[in-house]
Amino acid sequence: MTSGPVIIGSERSEAWLSAGMILLRQGASALDAVEATLRLCEDNLDDHYIGTGGLPNARGVVELDASLMVGSSRAFGAVGAVRSFPHPISIARTVLEVLPQHALLVGEGAELFAEEQGFERANLLTEEAMRIFREALLESNESVEGENTDAGAGDDNYRVAAIDLVRRLMAHDGPWGTVNVIALDESGEMVVGVSTSGYPWKYPGRVGDSALPGSGNYCDLRYGGAACTGRGELSMRVTGARMIVDALARGATPVEACGSMLREAAALPDHFRSELRAICLTPDGRHGGAASQGGSTYNVMTTSSAEPEVVARVQFDR
Ligand code: GLY
Repeated sequence: MTSGPVIIGSERSEAWLSAGMILLRQGASALDAVEATLRLCEDNLDDHYIGTGGLPNARGVVELDASLMVGSSRAFGAVGAVRSFPHPISIARTVLEVLPQHALLVGEGAELFAEEQGFERANLLTEEAMRIFREALLESNESVEGENTDAGAGDDNYRVAAIDLVRRLMAHDGPWGTVNVIALDESGEMVVGVSTSGYPWKYPGRVGDSALPGSGNYCDLRYGGAACTGRGELSMRVTGARMIVDALARGATPVEACGSMLREAAALPDHFRSELRAICLTPDGRHGGAASQGGSTYNVMTTSSAEPEVVARVQFDR
C-alpha cells in the first residue's frame, strides 16, 4: 500500500526538495527526483560539504562521494573520491545504469568513466572554500607545538599541521554537510541518494559512508530506505543505513529504527566522535529522523505540501 509520492531530505536539502516534489507530482521516477534534487544541492556554492564549493582534502583538492540505491532491485551505483566533476550523483546513476557489472568506482577509474560517459570537468575548489582551507591550516600551524620554522622544513610542518587538522575534526560543531534525499514515487518505487565532499582536510583518497551500500545508504522496498550524515567512519562500523532498514523489517517505527543505529554507534569507542544523524522512509510513507546531538532537523514534502515541512530529529546519544 503506497502513500503517493513523498520526498524527504537532510538539512540543507530544504531549498531544493520542492524541485524533486515537482518532478514526482508530474509522474517522474524516484530516481529522477532524487538525482535532480541532489544535483541542485551539489551546485550550491554556499554549502561547503557537497559538490562545487565543498571543502578540500588535506592537500587542498576537492574529492566527492555519492551513491544511489533503488529499493525494488537493491541496485546500487556509487563513486568515491572523484575529483573535477561537479555532479557525482549523476556519475553514480550512470554507474548504476550503464555499468551493471560494477557498483562502485573510485578515484582515477571513476574519473575515466565519467569522461567516457561525456561528463564535463570543472573547477570544484571555490575561492571561498580555499580561504577556509588556508585559514584552517594557519590556525593549525599556530597550535602545533615544536614546529620547525625553517622555510626548508615546510613539508614536515605540513604533515604535523595536517595531523592537527584531523584532530580538530573532533571538536567540529557541524552540521556535517552530507546531503541525503529519499523519494517514493507514484509507482511505489523508492530511491535513496547521498552526496558529499566528505570530511574537510581528509586524507586524500578517503572514501566515506556516503559511497558505501549499507553504511551511508540502503534501500529495500519491502521495508524502507535509510541514509546517514555525519561521522562516516562510525556509520561504516555499524553499517548504519542497513541497520536502520533491518530494524524497520523487524517492525520498529522509523524513529526507533534510526535511534537503534545511533545507540549502537554511541557504544563504540571513537577518538574522533562527532555528530551522526539518520533519516528513513517506509514504503507506506512513514518517515523519521534521529541525531546524536540536539537541534537537528530533516525536511519532508508530500504531494499536498506547498513547501518542505521541517521536522525535528529525535536525539539518541546513548
Ligand atoms: N558522512 C559523510 C562522510 O563521512 O564523509
